[in-house]
Amino acid sequence: FYLELAHRHGEKALELGVGTARLAIQLARAGVETWGIDNAPHMLRAAERSLAREPPEVRRRVHLEQADVRDFDLNERFGLVYFPSYSFDHLITGDDQASALRCIRRHLAPGGVYAFDLAHIPKLKEDSGWFVQRKPLNRERTVVRLGFHRTRPEKRLMSVDLWYEVYEDGRMLERYHEGGEVYIHTPDGIRRLLEENGFEIEAWYGGHDRQPFNNTSGMMVIVARRSRNREID
Ligand SMILES: C[S@@+](CC[C@H](N)C(=O)[O-])C[C@H]1O[C@@H](n2cnc3c(N)ncnc32)[C@H](O)[C@@H]1O
Repeated sequence: FYLELAHRHGEKALELGVGTARLAIQLARAGVETWGIDNAPHMLRAAERSLAREPPEVRRRVHLEQADVRDFDLNERFGLVYFPSYSFDHLITGDDQASALRCIRRHLAPGGVYAFDLAHIPKLKEDSGWFVQRKPLNRERTVVRLGFHRTRPEKRLMSVDLWYEVYEDGRMLERYHEGGEVYIHTPDGIRRLLEENGFEIEAWYGGHDRQPFNNTSGMMVIVARRSRNREID
């Protein structure tokens, strides 16, 4: 999906929250000059390690920088800015969402698009609880994932804490924690937020295969472009 948009919009793309550069590398392999920003140094180190395994022409096309999506200035313009893997949901305050959108808008080349995906949960219910999942990693090792989730519908927030424990012969070898809070947007809310921050919606899908969005879709995939809003300019 993002690769097709990059081809259509000038072969120069920016990935927000680039993580391990899993997607950025796919775009670069297909000839797209791809920039990626992330605010987590350990993610950027992992991205550099993945990139080091690529041939020189792919490495040359990828530019990684440590920056926060809420406040960045790369002094570049892109035909495609994309924020994949539900990452926009991690911006939980209205101020953070608006600052990110302002930065994104400034980085779009004329005719460029901003594409991203969001979780879609039509009926957000008050809910919380623990869950445990077990999965064999190989013949010797098993990983156990323990999680606690909590939904606060009045604030449209959902938080998840995950603990991963790796076991070998019943002995725990390592344990690490991952957690965070996400904001669950409504279709009306995200439409308003985009409009208020100088975007107009070009396409709205229910998945990356461009299926139409409806009330049962598990995600919203949105393609937006700069509106000609003089107040924002
Ligand atoms: C769910 S991961 C997605 C990684 C990658 N885009 C992918 O699809 O494989 C979200 C990434 O966003 C980064 N991130 C979260 N908040 C950020 C922020 N405020 N500024 C920059 N990066 C951020 C995290 O460090 C993480 O690498």
